[in-house]
Amino acid sequence: MSEHAWWQRAVVYQIYPRSFADSNGDGVGDLRGIIQRLDYLVDLGVDALWISPIYPSPMADFGYDVANYTDIHPLFGDMDDLRELVQRAHARGLKVILDFVPNHTSSEHPWFLEAKRSRTSDARSFYLWHDPKSDGGPPNNWLSVFGGSAWTWDEASGQYYYHAFLAEQPDLNWREPAVRRAMYDVLRFWLELGIDGFRVDVLWHLIKDAEWRDNPPNPDYRPGQAPYSSLLPAYSTDQPEVLDIVREMRGVLDEYGDRVLIGEVYLPVSRLVSYYGDKGDGAHLPFNFQLVVLPWRGPLISAAITEYEAALPPGAWPNWVLGNHDQPRIASRVGPKQARVAAVLLLTLRGTPTLYYGDELGLCDVAIPSERFQDPQGKNIGISRDPARTPMQWSAEPNAGFTTGVPWLPLSDDYERLNVEAESRDADSMLALYRRLIALRRKEPALVVGGYRPLVADADVVAYVREHAGRRWLVALNLSSAERRLSLDASDARGEIIVATNRERESEHVGGDIRLGADDGLVVRLE
Ligand code: NOJ
Repeated sequence: MSEHAWWQRAVVYQIYPRSFADSNGDGVGDLRGIIQRLDYLVDLGVDALWISPIYPSPMADFGYDVANYTDIHPLFGDMDDLRELVQRAHARGLKVILDFVPNHTSSEHPWFLEAKRSRTSDARSFYLWHDPKSDGGPPNNWLSVFGGSAWTWDEASGQYYYHAFLAEQPDLNWREPAVRRAMYDVLRFWLELGIDGFRVDVLWHLIKDAEWRDNPPNPDYRPGQAPYSSLLPAYSTDQPEVLDIVREMRGVLDEYGDRVLIGEVYLPVSRLVSYYGDKGDGAHLPFNFQLVVLPWRGPLISAAITEYEAALPPGAWPNWVLGNHDQPRIASRVGPKQARVAAVLLLTLRGTPTLYYGDELGLCDVAIPSERFQDPQGKNIGISRDPARTPMQWSAEPNAGFTTGVPWLPLSDDYERLNVEAESRDADSMLALYRRLIALRRKEPALVVGGYRPLVADADVVAYVREHAGRRWLVALNLSSAERRLSLDASDARGEIIVATNRERESEHVGGDIRLGADDGLVVRLE
């Protein structure tokens, strides 16, 4: 495996810092809390942590509105804490990946304050300003992801500015060379400090149509969906010139060597793969969200894996994700039993897996009454992301050991059962399953770098072989709650079950005809 880069062999773990571990009792997680829990991540077996934004921010969008790209929000700690975190993580063999939010700043960022001052201000061209239409309305029909027009009128300077998200998150003008230079220097600042890479926020949004044409209506839009989806973002996202920027960002990382560029890109696979760059000079890992967005059905999942594998450009490395801080949790989407099957899938597919904190405990979305919504998306359009952002559950102590204060979001009432301490004692727990799967991956190169060969994809069963250097593994997943049988060529089926969602099946020997119990996921070492 040594010819593979660390990020190809790694399991990445996403920390939503507000909700991971609170060291000072203010109810919000912080860097010292993460430092105190590094050994948990080592025990879990992950290799890298990606921390959602920790920079100074008015927190209109909980840190995705950055007011200073090269400092730490006091809520999370300070630069010394970050340096210590990096040093302690590295001492344990863990890499540290930061969130980079280049599409927009906070409206409190000094650049925007300066840009707003007058039409002739030096920083004016850092943002996207436009005159009104002749009727005084916004320059075009573009919508904000968080509801309403994407244009806000600035009375003082008499122009609109564009924001793909909140009005408090004005979009930067990435056609302006000075913006690019300044933002690449931000990357260098963190790379110098020893950061191992970045997850780049909404990478496919960075460049907008040069002519600002109206977006067309979405013929598939159904009432009840987010208003943003009523238009196709044909002119506001995924413009060809964005790939130049991806290449430039990659170039900055390459100045430092051995760092990783991960891109948040919600696009169909055929477009997603262009973010790898046409010469392998783009993002190392444009996030592949298919397991997040597709209905949980065998044929769809299998077809998606096959389509993705086939679409990858030569040399491109795959990756898989089950959840993140913007999506309902996997255990809520597919149910607690299938969430175990999903864990087997995530950790045995070819490519780098990214885990969302708490999914390894089987945490579900926590119902939060609308009057307690914190998330601006929830407040604006009723689709709150808070339920998937609730505090990590460490123990059965008050507030699940997350804080000694009042947690910023309520805890799930299952925390006395679902927590790190209790699940560490229970060999049948979700945590124990995750630990077994990750430990097996660490031991078995075939599961990390081996080839992928699909075997079966009917309505309920997904099965494939991973193979490398003469070692072969069968993965067989029952995506239903009814028993199934799987008939395979004996050469693809004779072996011993090493890890299973149902632990009783581990060590069982199987042959050509394999019984799959309800919600069974089996990882079989083939003879
Ligand atoms: C994507 C982030 O993951 C999400 O949390 C945020 O609200 C938007 N980008 C805007 O930055």
